[in-house]
Amino acid sequence: MAISISLTVNGAPISASIDPGTLLVQFLRDQLRLTGTHVGCDTAQCGACTVHLNGRAIKSCNILAVQAEGADITTIEGLATDGALHPMQTAFKHCHGLQCGFCTPGMVMSAVSLVQRQPDLTGEDVRAQFDGNLCRCTGYHNIVKAVLEGAEGMKSAGTANAAKNANAPATA
Ligand code: FES
Ligand code: FES
Repeated sequence: MAISISLTVNGAPISASIDPGTLLVQFLRDQLRLTGTHVGCDTAQCGACTVHLNGRAIKSCNILAVQAEGADITTIEGLATDGALHPMQTAFKHCHGLQCGFCTPGMVMSAVSLVQRQPDLTGEDVRAQFDGNLCRCTGYHNIVKAVLEGAEGMKSAGTANAAKNANAPATA
């Protein structure tokens, strides 16, 4: 039996009919064709599927699409503005914070959420908060550098404290 859901994805209102068992990541990738959100494990361990739900980073393989009813979802495709990369995307590019790039969308989404909650970060903070994001290429050193540089970029752009009062973990 199909069920109807309505939500906002990257600023666009979406209404769809889905199987109630559809995971949010399946809905984003298979139905909306937003394939920048990756599936690395499907068991809430790797963080490749991280998106923002009402401004908080969540693992989209870990919730059903129906649980996002009425929510505001942002995926990696929604970060750039008018073709200009988000400061965190720019930092990952500048710092070579990727190798194969498979984990990168989730890393970037987690990083943006982290900086919004905690703009002033140390490398230790980043390493501790990213325990839910795995990079199979083990490119962690440059990823940490990228997050720190991205945090400075977000502060300069005035986007570093959008969710400062949210007390959610970086990834759920
Ligand atoms: S695919 Fe969701 S955490 Fe790995
Ligand atoms: S860059 Fe390859 S998995 Fe992270």
